[in-house]
Amino acid sequence: MEIVAWSDSLSLGISKVDEQHKRLIQMMEELDEAIRKNQGADAVEDVLTNLFNYAQAHFAVEEELFRKHKYPEMALHELEHQRFIAKAFAFKERLGSNKPGLALELLNFLSSWVLNHIELTDKRYAKYLRDCGVS
Ligand SMILES: [Fe+2]
Repeated sequence: MEIVAWSDSLSLGISKVDEQHKRLIQMMEELDEAIRKNQGADAVEDVLTNLFNYAQAHFAVEEELFRKHKYPEMALHELEHQRFIAKAFAFKERLGSNKPGLALELLNFLSSWVLNHIELTDKRYAKYLRDCGVS
């Protein structure tokens, strides 16, 4: 499976969020490279740690915007973030020693989650926040 690539169709028209989504996708490319070039378990773990930290910081930015602008669907959206974090960390725990197959499975999970989340969940708030004047 190819990992998600950035395209303008993923743009929400909110510059800070779009930049963060691009960086997340870039970090998945780095993870892909670490796995495929057999850079070892430590390298994979480092990239994953950075990626998860970045994802959590990004979710916090989105959630702050929801609160600031009283986004009506914020509870549901935040639940989706929390579920993702729990699943991603559980997956990372299972990685243990160097298992490229499992690391690729994790990458596929991250990639399809991010794509679906932007397309289906983030796009639901994009218009609302733009109408609130966020750009
Ligand atoms: Fe989100």
